[in-house]
Amino acid sequence: MSEKVKIFDTTLRDGEQVPGCQLNTIEKIEIAKALEALGVDVVEAGFPISSPGDFNSVVEISKAIKNPTICALTRAIKKDIEVAAEALQHATRKRIHTGIGTSPFHIQYKIKTTPEEIIRRACDAVKYARKFVDDVEFYAEDAGRTDNEYLARVIEAVIEAGATVVNIPDTTGYCLPAEYGAKIKYLVDNVPNIHKATISTHCHNDLGMATANTISGIINGARQVEVTMNGVGERAGNTALEEIVMILKSHKSLGLETNIDTKKIFSTSQMVSGLMSMPVQPNKAIVGRNAFAHSSGIHQDGVLKNRENYEIIDPVDVGVRESSIILTARSGRAALNHHLEQMGYHYSKEELDDIYHRFLILADKKKEIKDEDIRILTGEKRQGGNGLALEHLQVICGKSAIPVATVGIRINGEVHTSTAAGNGPVDAAFSAVKHLISKTVHLEEFLVQAITRGSNDFGKVHIQIRHNERTYYGFGTNTDIVTAAVEAFLDAISKIK
Ligand code: KIV
Ligand code: ZN
Repeated sequence: MSEKVKIFDTTLRDGEQVPGCQLNTIEKIEIAKALEALGVDVVEAGFPISSPGDFNSVVEISKAIKNPTICALTRAIKKDIEVAAEALQHATRKRIHTGIGTSPFHIQYKIKTTPEEIIRRACDAVKYARKFVDDVEFYAEDAGRTDNEYLARVIEAVIEAGATVVNIPDTTGYCLPAEYGAKIKYLVDNVPNIHKATISTHCHNDLGMATANTISGIINGARQVEVTMNGVGERAGNTALEEIVMILKSHKSLGLETNIDTKKIFSTSQMVSGLMSMPVQPNKAIVGRNAFAHSSGIHQDGVLKNRENYEIIDPVDVGVRESSIILTARSGRAALNHHLEQMGYHYSKEELDDIYHRFLILADKKKEIKDEDIRILTGEKRQGGNGLALEHLQVICGKSAIPVATVGIRINGEVHTSTAAGNGPVDAAFSAVKHLISKTVHLEEFLVQAITRGSNDFGKVHIQIRHNERTYYGFGTNTDIVTAAVEAFLDAISKIK
C-alpha cells in the first residue's frame, strides 16, 4: 500500500507575499474553499500578527472550511503566538507554525545572538504555542544554509518541547537536490526523537530547483510538503503543488500518494491565477497553456495515433479536456484534418489535399494558423451549418444602466427577434440568442482580442461552447465587440448538427 505525503498549501501566506498579488478576505475564502475541494491537508491561511486584514482572513477561513487543518504563521514571539491562537479560535483543526532563523547569517546578522540562545527561544515558542493548540509546527528558517549537526540539535530540542511537525525550509532556494535530500536524511538518522514528528519540506525556487529539492526531501523521509498553486511565492516562488502531486502520481514506483483530486488542478490553478492577477507562464509544467499543446508535425502525428507517444500525463487527469494541436508550417495533413473536423468541416481526401497545399503556403507566412485563417482557406464552405445569421443587434448599456440587448436572427430564411437583460452587454445579447434557438448550449470560453491596437480597431472574438458533450468553436470579427461576440456565438451554434 502507498504511503501518504501531506500537502500543506501556503498559497495564501507565502504565495500572497508576492508584490501585486494581494487578495482581499473574500478572495482568500474563495481560494481556501477551492483548496479544500482539491483535497489539501493543511491550508496556511496567513500571518495574523502582520496586519488586521491577515488576522481577519485567518478568522474567516477558519469558519469557512472544515476538512483541512488551518495553519497560522508566527515568529518565535509570545505576542505573535497569542494573536495566531486567537485568529484560529473557530478552526475545526488548527495548527500554529512558529519558528526562527538557524543559519549563521540569520543568527549573526539578523537576530544578532548565539546558537544556544536560538535553541532556547525556539523551544520556548513551541512550548508556548502548545498551551493553545495540540498541533505545533516549527520552522528552522534558512535551514538550507544551516549546518546539519547544529540543525539536528535544534530539531531534537523542538520535538522535545512539543513540535508535531518540523519544517526544514530552503528559504533562499540555495540547496542542490542531493544536498537537500542529504539534509533530510541526516535528520532522520541523527535526531533520536524524529519519529515523534513529521518532517516537512519548504523549498524556494531561486535557482529553479524547488521541485527537485522537494522530491529529494520526500525520497529521504519528508512526509509533508509546503507548496503553492502555480508555484507562486516570494521572489522566484515556492514549490508548485501541481508538480509534486503529478510527479508522485506519475512515478508509482515511489510508493507515495497524496489526497489531491487531480482533476481539480487546472481549474484551481486558473482561479488562483485570475484572483492574484498572476498569469501562468505558457510553458509552465502541468498547468501552462502549452503543457498539452503539440506543434511539431512529428509529435502531432504521434499524439493523434496514440496520445502516450508524446504525453506522460493524460490531460484529463488534471482537468484539461484534451491535448491541443497547434497548427504551424510543421503540421501534417492528419493534424489539419483533425482540426478541421473539430471546427465542423468534413472533406474528402482530394479536397483535403487542396486545402493542405494552400495551408502550407499560408503557414509559411504566419507563425500560427488560427481558426479565422482556416475559415478563409476553406472559403467558408462549412458543411452541416444550419443557416443562422445576425440581422440586427441593439444594446443598451453603460454605468448604472441595466444591460439589455435585442437581437434579430435569420433562421432558415426567417427573422426572429428577442430581447433579454444580462450582467453585461454580451451576456444580455447571448441570453437573447439563447431564447431564439432550440438547443441548450454552455459557453465554455470567451476570448476578445484587438487586431491592431487603436480604439477604432477590429475586435476578434473566439468562443467555445458545449452541446451534448461536444465542443464547438466560433469566431467573429467586427469594430463593435458585442457584434463580434454574437457573430462568434452564432458561428459556433451553426456548427451543431
Ligand atoms: O521560506 C521560509 O523560510 C518561510 C518560513 C517562514 C516558513 O516561508
Ligand atoms: Zn517560504
